[in-house]
Amino acid sequence: MERKEAEQRIEALRREIHEHDHRYHVLNQPVISDQEYDAMMRELLGLEQEHPELVTPDSPSQRVGGEPLPYFEKVRHTQPMLSLANAFNFEELQEFDRRIRRLAEVDGVDYVCELKIDGLAVSIRYEEGVMVRGATRGDGTTGENITQNLKTIRSLPLRLRDAVTLEVRGEAFLPRKEFERINRQKESRGETLFANPRNAAAGALRQLDPKLTAERALDIFLYGIGEIHGTETPGTHTESLDLLSRLGLKVNPDRVTVKGIDDVMQFIDHWREHREELGYDIDGIVIKVDDLELRERLGTTAKSPRWAIAYKFPAEEGVTVLRGVEIKVGRTGAVTPTALLDPVILAGTTVQRATLHNEDFIREKEILLGDHVIVKKAGDIIPEVVGVVQERRTGEEKPYQMPTECPECGSELVRLEGEVALRCINPQCPAQTREGIIHFVSRGAMNIEGLGEKVVTQLFNADLVRGPADLYDLKAEDLLPLERMGKKSVENLLAAIEESKQNSVEKLIFGLGIRFVGAKGALILAQHFGGMEAIMAADREELEAVDEIGPKMAESIETYFDKPEVKETLRRLEAAGVNMMYKGPAPVQRGDSDSPFAGKTVVLTGTLESMSRKEAADRIEAQGGKVTGSVSKNTDYVIAGEKAGSKLKKARDLGVDVVDEQAFLAMLEG
Ligand code: IVH
Repeated sequence: MERKEAEQRIEALRREIHEHDHRYHVLNQPVISDQEYDAMMRELLGLEQEHPELVTPDSPSQRVGGEPLPYFEKVRHTQPMLSLANAFNFEELQEFDRRIRRLAEVDGVDYVCELKIDGLAVSIRYEEGVMVRGATRGDGTTGENITQNLKTIRSLPLRLRDAVTLEVRGEAFLPRKEFERINRQKESRGETLFANPRNAAAGALRQLDPKLTAERALDIFLYGIGEIHGTETPGTHTESLDLLSRLGLKVNPDRVTVKGIDDVMQFIDHWREHREELGYDIDGIVIKVDDLELRERLGTTAKSPRWAIAYKFPAEEGVTVLRGVEIKVGRTGAVTPTALLDPVILAGTTVQRATLHNEDFIREKEILLGDHVIVKKAGDIIPEVVGVVQERRTGEEKPYQMPTECPECGSELVRLEGEVALRCINPQCPAQTREGIIHFVSRGAMNIEGLGEKVVTQLFNADLVRGPADLYDLKAEDLLPLERMGKKSVENLLAAIEESKQNSVEKLIFGLGIRFVGAKGALILAQHFGGMEAIMAADREELEAVDEIGPKMAESIETYFDKPEVKETLRRLEAAGVNMMYKGPAPVQRGDSDSPFAGKTVVLTGTLESMSRKEAADRIEAQGGKVTGSVSKNTDYVIAGEKAGSKLKKARDLGVDVVDEQAFLAMLEG
């Protein structure tokens, strides 16, 4: 190929690849297959090899180009990278708001609320649209030049969509899935595991060899502009973020601009509840004054700006001393070591016990009795020990020896082939029966409120409940003598047991605790077969014919329902009035239902009168559609409610079908 021609082709390929990187990694809306992408990349690499003089630093081929560095050069930040003052409760937040209103002499302030990503602060410089440098925060004045490493982040564009010169700031982080993948890999290699995604991300960014960084799929959210030239200067932070987004940078979509502190508190409350649903860790919410001119007036203190504050969620991780280990036998007979700890407050509650998972885990992490350990408690997850602080060893620590016999029934513990857990394989082991009942009544299963571990254990020890069916025979006089059971709690408990009879059958299926059948498997069974009778009658082939049910699960289900004692339990449950049928909505498979939304990509904009946007999105998804945030030529429908704005305009410009609320409702009804 002639040089001129090659140059043009190279430029065209780079443009295309940049565009697809953006669609894939920033917008989450890929439009080509991996094969097509790889083919373009190969062609580009080939041409660049033939014409090395045409290689530029912003070529997609340069994401993992560089040689290992001897050390990181120091970088002085043109504007210091400040940190934030913290608020730990709403009073402190209200104080922050009052102070701003007082200093600014205004009544109401607009705030932007953003998620506080638990990663590492970085600064990235673009010159005329080309990424030229990336640095760590360091001490805020001077950081380290980690350009090579930041270039490996696929969601970070090497070239912006406009030739602007700017310095952007953001947080590099490791998504949880990637963290888990890396730890699984480390585990298989017998290496020490990372305690959390943040440590793993820090490790990746500190690599002198960018090839090692590239092995960990870091991600980034940009949240601020340091310096900017060559484009209109934004007047508000909201506009800054929109501008960054338009330039092709990845800005967190979960942000809001609100009027006044009350809505800020609502946003915080929302994410306190939902943080576990995110694919990455956050440790709080950042609240920033929206008006940039007002920010100027408020100024900064030596350490942090007066116009922003970090609302910190209670720490989910802490360090405490491991005093002992208790062995717990689960409903499958698996034996779990539980750490007995000095009390530590995590996520707002005192933690004194945490799982140590299994024997291998204790060995791999080299955990000793008396060690300072890192403990984590996230959301509904059981607290767990995640690592050891080696630096705090005194030499007094002692190794822990797992028992060889079941602490509950005395039978010998065995380790089945391919399993990490020791097991008690005595089917009569009381611990297994008791734990089975605890699982049966738990939230994801029959969800009987008031029946916690303690009550079940008492009922079990008093011989009142020896299996799930016994629960439905309980009477007030059985319960009243139990510890801490007043008349009112007995009434409530009996009502909760009664109510559980109405559950849709997947709750029961899950509650039975069939091996390999989790909550999702139970739902699939319930939806496919409609009720318990059909499931029990199904043979292995019929079970395996169901999508998502594999041979292992099919075998386990068949064997389970073949047992006479299982048949008897179900007969008794049914006789007691426990519902045996599926009651939920019919499942709709993406792409092959009759719904006009099946397989379609839909954008919602404006306000709907008949339902919230969330509800509308749920209903579209339930009918097999996909709901996305921005309009492109791949959008099939834009549902436009009242006061629809720029998205509606964009839909019209692109010729995307626009549907009003009435038509939308008609489509939902089919
Ligand atoms: S703004 C001067 N926004 O939290 C304001 N920071 O102590 C600079 N962080 O060092 C920070 N998510 O590493 C801001 N949405 C967000 C953030 C965020 C995470 C980190 C950042 C900063 C620390 C604040």
